[in-house]
Amino acid sequence: MGFVNVVDREGEHRAFEAVEGWRLMEILRDYRVGIEGVCGGACDCASCHVVIDEAWASKLFPPRDDELDKLDELPLIEPTSRLSCQIIWSDALDGLTLTLPPEI
Ligand code: FES
Repeated sequence: MGFVNVVDREGEHRAFEAVEGWRLMEILRDYRVGIEGVCGGACDCASCHVVIDEAWASKLFPPRDDELDKLDELPLIEPTSRLSCQIIWSDALDGLTLTLPPEI
């Protein structure tokens, strides 16, 4: 369990309970915060793009090459951009904060 803090596209801060073992994309998608997860987590659509708070970015496993390649296809990314389908939730992530990027 634990909570993920989301800054949505209107700048509103909200906290959502997260489930251990779920992909972060699945958690965000199910709370309908604006993450689609079109490819179901296959690292093939980038519709799960989020920007991780700097304080948390280094605590995550680094992105694999296929995630970096997919992020490179987006018109706007930040240094801490990630595909949320590639992040598996664990208790250690309790309090993680992310921002939803503008819709493209
Ligand atoms: S859900 Fe498609 S890349 Fe993450």
